Amino acid sequence: MKKNAVLLCFVVVSINIFSTIIHELVDYHGNNFFILLHSLSFLLLLLIAYTTFVENRKAARNTQSKIKESFDAMKSLFMHMPGAVMTLKKDFTIIEVNELVKSATGFNLSEIQGKKCYDVLGNGDICCDCLVQTALASGKPQYGTRIKYEKDSKTIYGKQTVIPIRDECGNIEYLYEIVTDITQEVFLEKENSEILMDIVTSLAHLIETRDPSTGTHCINVQRIALLIGEIMGLNNAVLKELSIAAILHDIGKIGIPESILNKPERLNAVEFLIIQRHPQIGYNAIKHIKRLQVVSEAILDHHEHYNGEGYPNGKKKDEISMIARILTVADVYEALTSDRVYRKAMSTKQAVEIIGKGKGRQFDPRVVDALFELVYTKKIKQIC
Ligand SMILES: [Fe+2]
Repeated sequence: MKKNAVLLCFVVVSINIFSTIIHELVDYHGNNFFILLHSLSFLLLLLIAYTTFVENRKAARNTQSKIKESFDAMKSLFMHMPGAVMTLKKDFTIIEVNELVKSATGFNLSEIQGKKCYDVLGNGDICCDCLVQTALASGKPQYGTRIKYEKDSKTIYGKQTVIPIRDECGNIEYLYEIVTDITQEVFLEKENSEILMDIVTSLAHLIETRDPSTGTHCINVQRIALLIGEIMGLNNAVLKELSIAAILHDIGKIGIPESILNKPERLNAVEFLIIQRHPQIGYNAIKHIKRLQVVSEAILDHHEHYNGEGYPNGKKKDEISMIARILTVADVYEALTSDRVYRKAMSTKQAVEIIGKGKGRQFDPRVVDALFELVYTKKIKQIC
């Protein structure tokens, strides 16, 4: 368009200059020749104007065709994306949905259109961690929240992404909500987790078969450790690792002779060195299970001391994982408050006194504080 306008101006100016020169030249040849020249100029102008009009119309048609192609491509992308795609109004009403909504969510298109998305995928109210709301507030795309909903008594899991779309003034006009079906992935994850727990339970039984008192000790340590972990605010993933580590922390005792394990008298120096091998034996047995890497490290470190005077590697403070530091406290507290072949169980008061003396030396002070809180609120008495 711009190019044609410049060309038109150039031609008009050229013709005017040309006709002025001709006018000067032919002045003495009479008016007829001058009128003829001006008529020719006018015709030429008309021709140029017509050509420009035709070219512009052609360009407009091309632009329209390209816009339509882009729109069709977007529509095709929308309809065939590998996930359920919905366009939502700012009030959460579903405007449009693609074909995959049915297979991903289990809902028919007619069941969804015009409804609020939280009525379809939620519990009839805006979800507490709603990504649409966050996208509206922040104006930015939101990715990856896991959602769970029921359809015909079937549980479906989806991964949700929300993208706000703005108008020419920059205001959010509507939103895209994309839900990918991850039901199979979630079930596979659960299945793997169950297999892992079966392995852990089998290993725990193995310890119990060898030495029943160690089996009971491990279950008690698990309960105490989890209570400490919860009071310290550990997240669910860490609590799960802590739970497994507690059950398996003495697995290495399988490699220690029964004569030492069940000896009613105090151990001599050599026997003590032998029993001190159990963290390393346990670690070696578990370290090849990829999913139990964190657990195997905690097993290795559960006799390390906060001040670096423990075994087998003399690690200290942050070199020891929090899981191992919690295990150490739970392990000692459980051992002190339980009967042993060589002594009777101590009272809670005596155990608290001994652990208090080790605060900052053998034990992480924060873990000791958490244990004491549990003891003082009597939450831990129910266990031992
Ligand atoms: Fe141990």
